[in-house]
Parts: sequence; structure tokens; C-alpha cells
Amino acid sequence: MAILKIARMGHPVLSQIAKTVDDPTAPEIRRLVSDMLETMVDSDGAGLAAPQVHVPLRVVVFQAPADRDDRLGESADYTAPLTVLINPEIEVIGETRESGWEGCLSVPGLRGLVERSAHIRYLGFDHEGHRIERIAKGFHARVVQHECDHLDGVLYPQRMSDLKKLIFESEAHHWLPRED
Ligand code: NI
Repeated sequence: MAILKIARMGHPVLSQIAKTVDDPTAPEIRRLVSDMLETMVDSDGAGLAAPQVHVPLRVVVFQAPADRDDRLGESADYTAPLTVLINPEIEVIGETRESGWEGCLSVPGLRGLVERSAHIRYLGFDHEGHRIERIAKGFHARVVQHECDHLDGVLYPQRMSDLKKLIFESEAHHWLPRED
């Protein structure tokens, strides 16, 4: 296990299309996943994509904790356990879109308001070769779309329609609901 160095916006690895993983159960993928999980937890991130640790492969890890928004309760669609997703595919369900604040370990210190699909289905495999298929809403849908964007070389500021809402974290209290 190792904590990996995170690529920051401007590094070419963040702009390229990541490659499909031939064998999700290969030992080198298991090692990569283990290091990505350790790096994500160490950085206090909600998700991490392999290109962010300089590995251009279609691997993401994420979690969507229940306490992100109390109004959403414990519904499975809104929350996800710590998940490893290899070769993911996303299918949008319905036309509803929602705006939410995002941050990214590759864009440190900033937050941005990003509109994304509110309701998706996603598919992929974990590192034991099990097929994953889930419906996701809210923050869960957002984090999956954000991480999968990394696999196509897209960072969240490139999804923003109003760059006035790209702000420093230290100014977020002007925008975000207060957490008591
Ligand atoms: Ni990110």
C-alpha cells in the first residue's frame, strides 16, 4: 500500500482518454485499487480516478455517505459504500438536471457549481471481477459522473456554465448552507 502523488490541473494525464482495463482482477489492478483507496482516504476525498494518480486506466473509486444531505435519508440510491468501479458506463435516466458544488483533488483549494444529470444508472466491474449495476441519485449520481469524466479527460470546471461560481474554498461560506 502506498499514498500516491495526485496530478493537478494542467498535467497532460488529466486531459487524455484513459484505456479500458483488460483484466479487472489482475494483480497490478488490485495493487492500483488498494493504493487509490489509501490515497483517497488520506486526502479526505469522496472519489478518485486512476488518471489523477498518473495511471491512464478506466478505474475509479468513490463513496457517497448518507450524511451528505440529511433530507435524502438512507435511501440506497443516494448513498454508496466505498466502491471500486472498473470500465464504468453511465446511462442517464430522465432529463432532470441538478446543480451542486464540487471539489476535486486535482483542483485543490477551489469549488465550483456544476450542473449534472440527477438520475443515472451505472455499470462496471469491481477488482474481484463482480459486475456492478446500480441506480444513483443526488450526490451519489454526481460523484460517479465527476469521477467518470476524469476517464475522458474532463475536469469539473470544463462542465461549468458560469465561471463566477468557481470559488476558493475559503470563500465557500458565502455560498454554501451553514453546517451546524
Ligand atoms: Ni476530481
